[in-house]
Amino acid sequence: MNDVAVVVLGGGPGGYSAAFRAADLGRSVALIERYPRLGGVCLNVGCIPSKALLHLAAVSREARGLRAHGVAFAEPTLYPRRIAAFKDDLIARLGDGLASLARRRKVQVIEDSAAFLSPHRVRLAKSGEVLGFEHAIIATGSRNAAPSELPRDHPRVLDSTSALRFETIPERLLIIGGGVIGVEMACLYEGLGARVSLIESEARLLGECDDDVGAPLRARLARSCEILTNTRVRRVEARVEARVEARVEAKGAGALTVWFEGTAAPASGERFDAIIAAVGRRPNSDALRLERAGVASDARGFITTDDGQRTNVPHVYAVGDVTGPPMLAHKATHQGKVAAENTAGREVVFDGRAIPSVVYSDPEIAWVGVTEIQARQRGLDYKKAVFPWRANGRALATGRGDGLTKLLLDPRGPRGNVLLGAGICGNGAGDLIAEAALAMEMAADAGDVALTIHPHPTLSETVGLAAELAEGTITDLFSGASPRGFEPLLPP
Ligand code: FAD
Ligand code: NAI
Repeated sequence: MNDVAVVVLGGGPGGYSAAFRAADLGRSVALIERYPRLGGVCLNVGCIPSKALLHLAAVSREARGLRAHGVAFAEPTLYPRRIAAFKDDLIARLGDGLASLARRRKVQVIEDSAAFLSPHRVRLAKSGEVLGFEHAIIATGSRNAAPSELPRDHPRVLDSTSALRFETIPERLLIIGGGVIGVEMACLYEGLGARVSLIESEARLLGECDDDVGAPLRARLARSCEILTNTRVRRVEARVEARVEARVEAKGAGALTVWFEGTAAPASGERFDAIIAAVGRRPNSDALRLERAGVASDARGFITTDDGQRTNVPHVYAVGDVTGPPMLAHKATHQGKVAAENTAGREVVFDGRAIPSVVYSDPEIAWVGVTEIQARQRGLDYKKAVFPWRANGRALATGRGDGLTKLLLDPRGPRGNVLLGAGICGNGAGDLIAEAALAMEMAADAGDVALTIHPHPTLSETVGLAAELAEGTITDLFSGASPRGFEPLLPP
C-alpha cells in the first residue's frame, strides 16, 4: 500500500470534512472507515435518521392539534416498515452523495478498522495491510454508554442506534436519561403514539439549558409524558419468554419490569414494552493503540488537542466527538477543516465561542455562546433581553406562542450591549439561532441586530425585537420607564 500525506481515521462528519478539505488542498489522502457507508454516527444512526422520524412525529402531533383551530383529521395510521424504509432511503441517498464527493476528489476510501502501529504507520485490521503517512487525523467519534443496571443483549433494551432502526412503536416506553437524546426520543416516540416515561438522575432535564429557555419544553413534556427527575433504575427484570416473544410481537407485551429509586420513584415495579438508554456517549479511542503513536488522552479517553486540533504529537490531529463535548456534527466538521488546513502548512485555529446547540424537541430549543448558567458560574457582568413569543404574530398564527427569544449582552465597554449569547425556545429555534451565531461571529451588538430589518410576520422578528428591547427602542412591547429596562411589560 502506498504511503499517503494524510490518513484520516473515521468517516463521520469530522473525518470526511477533513479528508475532503485536505484533498482540495492538494494532499494525497486515505480515509479509513470501518463501516461500508461514510457519514458516521450523524448520517447513519444520529442526526439524519432522528430528524426524519422527529419530522413525522411533529407533523402527526400538529395534525392532531389542528382540531382546536377548526380542522380535524382522522388519527394518523402508522406503517413502521414504510417509515423505516423512508428513513433508510434518505440515509442511502446522502451516503451515495458522500461516496461520490470522495471519488471526485480522489480520496482513497478504505473500508477497514485502523489502529496505530507507530507514530507514522497504521495497520488495517481486516486486510492486515500497513499504511504509512506524514500526518494523521483521528476522527473516530463516540458510541453510546451502556448503564450497568440494564440487561445486556435484550431485544427490548435499546440505545439510540437500535431505537432509530424503528422496528416497532412500543405501547409503553421507558427512556433513561433526560439529556438531548432522551428528550428527542421522548418527543419522537410520544408523537408517534407511545406512552413515554422519561427518567433523569439529576434535578432537571437538559441540565445545560437555562431554566427560562427550557421551561416551555419542560411544561409541554410534563403534559404528554411521565417525567421523573432525581430518579434512577434500581433493577430490571426481563421475562424469559419475552426474549423470544419480542422478536415476533409488535408491542413487546410488557416484557420488562422496572424498579426505580429516588425522590420520584414509584413504590412498586412497573411494566414496559421497551427501554431506551440515553445516558451519554464515550469516545472511540480505546481500540486505536494510541500509545504506539505516543498520543495522549484524558482519564475518560477523550483525546486532548490544542486550538489547531494538534494532539501532543504534532503531526497527529484529532477532531470531533473523540476530542470531547460538545458532541455535535457541525463542531466536528469545522474542526476537521481546521486540522486539514494545518496539515497543509496553514496556521489556523478552531475558535469555538459561537457553537450553536439545538434540541429538536417540541418546542425546539437552541442556544449559542454563553448561557445564563455559564455567565453566573463565570461571574460575568451581563444583562438579558427576553422577547416572549406570545407577542409575535407569526407564532400565534401557528398556535405556538409558547416560546421566547433571549439575548445575553455585555453592558461594559464603549459600545455596550455586545452579544455574549442567545437562547431560543419555540418551533424553528434551530434555524433562528443561526442569526445570533452570525451576530456573535461578527462581534455585533444589540444595536446592529435591532437595526437589521427582519421580515414581517416571521419568527425571526423575535431576535430583532429582543435586541430592540435591549436598546430601549421597542414599540411592539411596553418596556417600562427605563429606556434600557430589558424587562418586557406585555399589554394586558
Ligand atoms: P462519528 O460521526 O462518530 O464518526 C466516527 C466514525 O469513525 C464512525 O463512522 C466509525 O465507524 C468510525 N471509526 C471508529 N473507530 C474506527 C477505527 N478504528 N477505524 C476506522 N473507522 C473507525 N449532532 C448534531 O450536531 N445535530 C444533531 O441533530 C445530532 N443528533 C444526534 C442524534 C443521535 C441519536 C446521536 C447519537 C448523535 C447526534 N448528534 C447530533 C451528534 C453527532 O452525530 C456527532 O457529534 C457527530 O457524528 C460526530 O462526528 P465525528 O466525525 O466526530 O464522529
Ligand atoms: P447527555 O450527556 O446529553 O445526557 C445524558 C443524561 O442522562 C444526563 O442528563 C444525565 O444526568 C442522565 N443520566 C446519566 N446516567 C443516568 C442514569 N443511570 N439514570 C438516569 N439518568 C442518567 O447524553 P445523551 O443525551 O446520551 O447525548 C450524547 C451526546 O449526543 C450529547 O452530548 C449531544 O451533544 C449529542 N447529541 C446531540 C443532538 C443534537 O444536537 N440535537 C441530538 C442527540 C445527541
